[in-house]
Amino acid sequence: MKCGKHSFFERHAKHWDTHPENENVKRVVKETEIKKGSVICDVGTGTGVLVPYLVKKTGKKGKVIAIDYAPSMIEQATKKWRNLPVEFVVADIHKTSFPDNYFDYVICNACYPHFERKKVALKEIYRILKNNGIIVISHPKGRDFVNNLHKSVGGCIAKDRVPQATILAKTLKSSGFIPLKVIDEPDFYFVSGKKTAF
Ligand SMILES: C[S@@+](CC[C@H](N)C(=O)[O-])C[C@H]1O[C@@H](n2cnc3c(N)ncnc32)[C@H](O)[C@@H]1O
Repeated sequence: MKCGKHSFFERHAKHWDTHPENENVKRVVKETEIKKGSVICDVGTGTGVLVPYLVKKTGKKGKVIAIDYAPSMIEQATKKWRNLPVEFVVADIHKTSFPDNYFDYVICNACYPHFERKKVALKEIYRILKNNGIIVISHPKGRDFVNNLHKSVGGCIAKDRVPQATILAKTLKSSGFIPLKVIDEPDFYFVSGKKTAF
């Protein structure tokens, strides 16, 4: 189900890259500790901020699939990164058509608070991850920055909140992941977990 949020991102796609890139985007990739040859899903890719770093880390034997539910974001990203080996797909993380046990990493950078049904999205991420695959939920500018930004933008994203990292770690645990890194610094937020098959 898509509320006005979906059209919010559709409307803003063309101007999205006027936001300067934050240096901590590189730290997100570093903390993820990507192994060469991995299959990676970049969820809510927007205009593909993470894409060049993910492509470099996983190398020629790996694969990067970047998804977003806003077709305009995917259009911008496709134009921007047409020379890179990346597949852009319009898809909603609540229900994708990827096979079970497909990805080594599913990275949600700066998008988790916007998911309408978090438990459903986490269940879908669990399904598409391989056993021992890693979920990452990150915010390169930190929790307070994002929460204040959403409040000030208002409208349908006003109440989209980044939870305290320890609370998110508990949510991951109850969705079947073993929490790995739990970082909640003033300017950097990163929570990861490992899928463990029951
Ligand atoms: C704040 S932007 C972040 C974009 C990019 N990850 C970045 O770091 O610049 C959030 C993105 O998540 C996408 N998004 C929100 N909910 C989504 C969902 N349920 N499935 C897929 N994409 C979603 C939006 O369309 C938007 O492009």
